Amino acid sequence: TPTAIGIDIGGTKIAGALVDGAGRITHREQVATPADDTTAIIEATATLVTTLTEAAEGPVEGIGIACAAFVDARAGHVWFAPNLPWRDLDLAAEVASRVDREVVVENDANAAAWGEYRFGAGSDCDDMLLVTVGTGVGGGCINDDRLVRGAFGIGGEVGHIVLDPSGPRCGCGNAGCLEVFASGTALVRNARELVTSPSPLGEALRARCGGDPDALTGHDITELAREGDGASIELLDELGTRLGQGIASICAVLDPGRIAIGGGVADAGDLLIGPTRTAFAKHLIGRGHRPSPEIVPATLGNDAGIVGAATIAREGRA
Ligand code: BGC
Ligand code: NA
Ligand code: ZN
Repeated sequence: TPTAIGIDIGGTKIAGALVDGAGRITHREQVATPADDTTAIIEATATLVTTLTEAAEGPVEGIGIACAAFVDARAGHVWFAPNLPWRDLDLAAEVASRVDREVVVENDANAAAWGEYRFGAGSDCDDMLLVTVGTGVGGGCINDDRLVRGAFGIGGEVGHIVLDPSGPRCGCGNAGCLEVFASGTALVRNARELVTSPSPLGEALRARCGGDPDALTGHDITELAREGDGASIELLDELGTRLGQGIASICAVLDPGRIAIGGGVADAGDLLIGPTRTAFAKHLIGRGHRPSPEIVPATLGNDAGIVGAATIAREGRA
């Protein structure tokens, strides 16, 4: 079956894989992301492409790269990234010149949305929104079988709709974005505040990290919530509530038929998605007099971006 390469450049690792025409991963490789060095990241990505090309048994029919940035996918150009030092970077051309092949670049959440749409949570609908909850909050919107990219490629940046202009500053420069309230980063920040507070509510969290707030991870919070810790359940509830409010606003513009929630924090399952659904139901415009889209967990996990990027590259459309 036809193979394409999908790569996801993340903050800690660059993950790549060979993906077949059915969206299945047949081979994986990964390297640590070189810290704060754009050229080293480009070089590591190119090396990964070469390694994967050599691992492929037949021809490679496309190379797609996903990254957490505002990307003009048509030009392979990165404008800006709220949580990375990338500005005005011709990422596709930089990698292409090193591997001597055409390369396409896509926003990570857009790529993940396309992956989920084709092979995961959205496989039987034409209008879908994916929201990813991780370091940042990402979005990818499929409208009438096409990815919504907008005029400059920045369509679908749902993490940066403003929920409260008097809220904390966001990496994008604005204040009070959905991302500052509902990302994995926000979850950990809120939990760390509880750890350093004198509140008895933070006891289980404090014990979990041995009193060192910096040692606390999103995974710890999810685990504690699963074990029934009230504070951790509340922290996820707060996140889900903000997400539900934000997603309801997005529905006023995009009217998706299904909403999938992905990203690392979505591993919390109903502990996150339950409160998301509740808040969403309270804020959806026209509620009670219109069909409501379902909110479902994404199904491809961490692989969504890789699968989506590879598929976009192979098929030349999204
Ligand atoms: C960025 C998006 C990205 C998302 C998830 C946000 O901060 O603005 O481009 O998709 O994080 O990585
Ligand atoms: Na996006
Ligand atoms: Zn923002």
